[in-house]
Amino acid sequence: VPTVRVACVQNDPAFGARDANLDAAEALLDGVEADLVVLPELFASGYSFRDRAEAEAAAEPFPDGPTVRRLLAWSRRRGAVVVAGFPERAGARVHNAAAVVADGRPLACYRKVHLFGFESDVFDAGDDGFAVVEHRGLRVGTMVCFDWIFPESARTLALRGADVIAHPSNLVLPWCQRAMPLRALENGVFTATANRVGTERRAPRPALRFTGGSLVAGVDGVVLASAPEEGPAVLVADLDPARARDKRLPGGNDRLADRRPHLYGSHTVSSKDA
Ligand code: ACM
Repeated sequence: VPTVRVACVQNDPAFGARDANLDAAEALLDGVEADLVVLPELFASGYSFRDRAEAEAAAEPFPDGPTVRRLLAWSRRRGAVVVAGFPERAGARVHNAAAVVADGRPLACYRKVHLFGFESDVFDAGDDGFAVVEHRGLRVGTMVCFDWIFPESARTLALRGADVIAHPSNLVLPWCQRAMPLRALENGVFTATANRVGTERRAPRPALRFTGGSLVAGVDGVVLASAPEEGPAVLVADLDPARARDKRLPGGNDRLADRRPHLYGSHTVSSKDA
């Protein structure tokens, strides 16, 4: 697989203004050529749904909704993989989801596994787990925002063969941007976190300020590209997927093969169940 270019879009959506937010994201992408484009969690709908009914009203089916149709068009124009967050309606369920599309075709819909704070009042947690898709030889895994604090998310994607983890986000805690280079290092994968900026004030929800700082991290834990904490931005980095397929470290250890999972059994049991 030749070197690939990844682009992360850091946008500043207005809650509920889907079509204007889609137009603004398209304007940010104007002139950006990339093999993988990552946009934030819920990047066109906004985040702070007041209640379940509001999330249901905004939710769209996959792949036949207005947001995913735009993503399909963007991916077709560039021949690229596009990963972006949207509220998904699946029967009676509503998910905080990320669409994975490539070259005008829907490949996967990831349903956020670990819901953050109030999200569990308005979304159903995803039960389908973590998926890796392959497009033109590049293996792309997806997780969403708060999944980052559970190292099992990135580990699962690495074990499933991801070269790069696309990570649409609406980060409000200040730690993830420091953690992602370590997720990349410990798993020997690239990570591409697309975070949003701006503030949402939707009482009775507390005002939320999103922390920007979108970043791409390399397999050696180095930040390859990062965006400011404020303001819309597009950041671009070039990755060599071959580096994610060789898990060896200087000294000879292999980050995945040298694990001793028979000693980790307690990690596969929830402390809520134990
Ligand atoms: C988050 O998961 N949106 C914090």
